[in-house]
Amino acid sequence: MPDSAYRIVKLANGSHSVHSLAHHETFHPVVGPMVEAESLYLRQLRLAERFQGHQGEFVVWDVGLGAAANVITVLRGLREIPGHLRILSFDHTPEPLAFALEHAAELGYVEGYEDPARELLRSRKVHFNTGALTVDWELHLADFPSLIHSPEATVFAKPHAIMFDAFSPAKNPAMWTLPLFTQLYSLLSPDRDCALPTYSRSTILRVTLMLAGFYVGVGHATGEKEETTIAANTLSLIQEPLGLRWLERVKRSGSAEPLSEPVYRQAPLSAPALDALQKHPQFKASGHS
Ligand SMILES: C[S@@+](CC[C@H](N)C(=O)[O-])C[C@H]1O[C@@H](n2cnc3c(N)ncnc32)[C@H](O)[C@@H]1O
Repeated sequence: MPDSAYRIVKLANGSHSVHSLAHHETFHPVVGPMVEAESLYLRQLRLAERFQGHQGEFVVWDVGLGAAANVITVLRGLREIPGHLRILSFDHTPEPLAFALEHAAELGYVEGYEDPARELLRSRKVHFNTGALTVDWELHLADFPSLIHSPEATVFAKPHAIMFDAFSPAKNPAMWTLPLFTQLYSLLSPDRDCALPTYSRSTILRVTLMLAGFYVGVGHATGEKEETTIAANTLSLIQEPLGLRWLERVKRSGSAEPLSEPVYRQAPLSAPALDALQKHPQFKASGHS
């Protein structure tokens, strides 16, 4: 395979990451793959803590497998804890991971996980042990928005955590629509607490997540962004829920109306969307400012 679709870039902090030439986007562009994945997912989701006390399989959905930095960071973070982790990775191309395997030494984080990653690419699933951890890792190679609307998606193992790492909404609008997040929310189990952090803090994303049914809060800084976003199907997984002050800002925003289709555009919130947002249980429950 030619290396033409991706290249390795050296970041300001000296670490390396993968750059997609087609999308003109670098994966984990500022602080690099490991640092971003550790702060945005591993620490923010308190994954080690949740995993430690967990009985049975703990299920993580990895939306936008890419070069697998998020998954491998989670594997490293949990590997001393005995337990069973099931990872469902989603992407419409295996190429970034294949590219990362060819550049494992430069990327660093891949080293030690080449065998399971190769087997994942070959068979679309792999069972292995790393440290005290037993892992089942599956790869669903498909257009994610279509896949989650298919009957197949209803039998996927229900997630306890979702790492949502598509390209930016302006370049990858199909991955940020209200129908997508509404369907994602409907696939969660009401009996299984699930949190979804993502790197954006934009008003449009936060409104979209809330109208899809999620509770939404301010997410941790990552080194790259001073603030990110965390959504969940329970308020108990959100430390700093968005409150009425945020709702006031939404009303003044020029970019708050969710994308109803995979075309990027910016618009103030429509009256019906504002009405629905104001009725969200998060604002009733809260007193959050
Ligand atoms: C920012 S990269 C993910 C980086 C990755 N999480 C990592 O740790 O290396 C975004 C990924 O989303 C995938 N993607 C974009 N649109 C998609 C779609 N419609 N369906 C499935 N995957 C998609 C891209 O192929 C790309 O690998």
